[in-house]
Amino acid sequence: ANKLGSKKERTLAMIKPDAVTKVGSIIQMVYDAGLIVTKAKMTKLTGKQAADFYMEHQSKSFFNNLVQFVSSGPIIVMELMGDEAVSVWRKVLGPTDSGVARKDAPASLRAQFGTDGTRNAGHGSDSLASAARELEFFFPSTTGHSRTNTAKYQDS
Ligand code: PPS
Repeated sequence: ANKLGSKKERTLAMIKPDAVTKVGSIIQMVYDAGLIVTKAKMTKLTGKQAADFYMEHQSKSFFNNLVQFVSSGPIIVMELMGDEAVSVWRKVLGPTDSGVARKDAPASLRAQFGTDGTRNAGHGSDSLASAARELEFFFPSTTGHSRTNTAKYQDS
């Protein structure tokens, strides 16, 4: 914690395929919430990559639906930084189901840009541990025991 008792954190934010055209408004919401964008890229996941990313949910009834949706088109992933970034970004997102979000948090990202429980516009890491894993997934380190360096080591 710093002098004001707040904690600078990093989190992984994803704009899902249904909301990439809203990237302008969504980045504005990041800055309005007091966070900053420190990394960003547009990409598209294969089904296998989406299943890896969401492996904690593999036993859930919605797993195939989730993997299919998130790999159905381009996504934008960002590293966000700021005081309590993990919980602040989850608050910006609003409730998981966009239908619920429109009732309970009408100004939230999912209320404005999502449709329902599947097409819900965005994702945010749910803990600091998840954030570390998810940031490494999309923005792998170029030092230490990264895949790149491991591959280089194995090739030589
Ligand atoms: S749980 O069981 O409480 O962990 O699940 P929850 O936090 O509600 O949701 C975890 C992620 O699964 C997505 N989800 C769905 N995707 C597609 N279809 C259905 N029916 C569905 N239900 C939940 C939900 O959006 C969460 O994704 P992320 O990307 O983490 O927001």
